[in-house]
Amino acid sequence: MELVDIFPAFGLRIECGPVTLRAMREADAPRVAELASGGIHKEGARPFLQPWNLSETQPLLSLQFYYRTWAAFSPESWTLLMAVERDGVMVGAQDMKADKFAVLRHGETGSWLGIPHQDRGTGTLMRQAILTFAFDHLTAVEMRSGAWADNPGSHRVSEKCGYVTNGYQLLERQGERVRQDDFVVTPDTFVRPPHEVVVTGVEAFRRAIGLETGR
Ligand SMILES: CC(C)(COP(=O)(O)OP(=O)(O)OC[C@H]1O[C@@H](n2cnc3c(N)ncnc32)[C@H](O)[C@@H]1OP(=O)(O)O)[C@@H](O)C(=O)NCCC(=O)NCCS
Repeated sequence: MELVDIFPAFGLRIECGPVTLRAMREADAPRVAELASGGIHKEGARPFLQPWNLSETQPLLSLQFYYRTWAAFSPESWTLLMAVERDGVMVGAQDMKADKFAVLRHGETGSWLGIPHQDRGTGTLMRQAILTFAFDHLTAVEMRSGAWADNPGSHRVSEKCGYVTNGYQLLERQGERVRQDDFVVTPDTFVRPPHEVVVTGVEAFRRAIGLETGR
């Protein structure tokens, strides 16, 4: 038996032109730390609830987050952690999380790229890749994303992928009140990527999240 037979999410691979999403693994933690050390958010930008450009504790906190997420995986509540490669080099991460997906058929995505890898279209391609996977292979009916009002790059990626606005929330971010804009995309509004999306390992993953096999 292989590890992927026990934890099928480790067998997922989503290819979209120059961008590949493959399951994040324990061995990727040092690369995540390297990317964070080169910066993830630009000067003055605060895209996350907590700042996580490199600090002494960031590599350990990231690794602990991955362990917690793998440990908490269940058909009722799961988060898929995908490492993002562009032309074979790991440049960031793309997540998808869902609760009661087998019934509700919707999920939420989150993503980041190291600063040197931003603004080259990768963020759009990786979002389009995970949305194609969610709609075509998991039969999602809608997907959601949130972005702070002061994160124009994330807003623009959502717009390019065909999301529409879906309200907002006022949240506390590092001691201040900030608006988070909410977006939703459906198969009807989705702007598909210019590349074919090739998915590997989906049947075992579908069983792991309580979906019947086949489409
Ligand atoms: C958000 C993120 C994943 C997008 O990835 P990316 O590779 O930079 O995205 P793309 O290059 O595909 O598209 C970015 C778009 O935003 C635009 N953009 C970027 N910064 C901008 C700014 N300050 N003002 C206006 N538009 C901006 C770019 O021009 C581009 O639009 P265009 O193609 O119409 O020119 C990446 O920037 C990132 O990791 N940011 C830090 C973490 C983060 O914010 N994560 C999301 C949390 S919700």
